[in-house]
This record gives sequence, structure tokens and C-alpha cells, in this order.
Amino acid sequence: MSNRTFTMIKPDAVQNGHIGGILDMICKAGFRIVAMKQTRLSAEKAGEFYAVHKERPFYGELVEFMSSGHIVAAILEKDNAVEDFRKLIGATNPANAEEGTIRKKYAESIGRNAVHGSDSNENAQIEGDFFFSGLEKF
Ligand code: CMP
Repeated sequence: MSNRTFTMIKPDAVQNGHIGGILDMICKAGFRIVAMKQTRLSAEKAGEFYAVHKERPFYGELVEFMSSGHIVAAILEKDNAVEDFRKLIGATNPANAEEGTIRKKYAESIGRNAVHGSDSNENAQIEGDFFFSGLEKF
């Protein structure tokens, strides 16, 4: 499944009305939406999703933010999906994000940065499985 990645549109972008704009950029960049849902993460589920960052100083803030409102979760398909999607979203800190990237256009700060994108094929699989089951992924 190396042609797939996973994304979330984060609570800041959902609240600010950017779901449509972000999905438009994703589709225009050639990604196919395999599965998608708008949902909410409890603090417990957000903590589980970001467990790899548990020891980081921003973990508490990250969990609180990610459970503060609705998110949109999606599995995306394209050749070289993980790498190409990370290029499309831009640097984690929007201050460093290049022109034409989703974070340059929509992110507010390093924490409220509009979108998540998987950082490896392995994590794309794990993260997609966190939100979607069985037939939803086919
Ligand atoms: P994301 O790609 O979803 O993966 C981990 C997230 O942690 C990252 O995006 C940022 O939103 C968040 N993050 C990283 N560094 C910081 C920081 N210094 N302060 C707050 N949040 C951060």
C-alpha cells in the first residue's frame, strides 16, 4: 500500500471553514480520496493517535487541541503518496512552509497547522487503520 497516505484536517481548519479549500488542493494535486469522514476525537483517542509524541513538551497541548473540535480524516491514494503529500502540505511550522502549500495558505501556527500527513508508509497504514475498517478502505 505504498501508494496511500493518511490525512486529517485539524480543528482549526474545520472551524475556519477551510475543508472545501483543502480538499480542492488535495484533489487538484492528483490524490484520490479512498475513504473520508468528519468526526471528533476524545482526548483519550487523540492521545493514542499521537502516542509517539508522548514525551514531547507539546504533547498535552497537541492532545487538547486535536480533541477541541471536529476533524476530517481521510485515506488518500496516488503514486508516491506519502512523500508527495508531505510536499503538498509543507513544513510543520507554517512560517517555514513554501508558497503553494496547504499550510502556507491555511495554517495559523506550528500547533494549529491545518492538516496532518503521515510521515512513512508504515504510519500511513497504522493511521488509516485507526479511523477506517474493512470495506471502507477498498
Ligand atoms: P502533525 O504533522 O500532526 O504531527 C505532530 C504535531 O505536533 C504536528 O503536526 C504539530 O501540529 C504538533 N507540534 C509539533 N511541534 C509543536 C510545537 N513545538 N508546539 C505545538 N505543537 C507542535
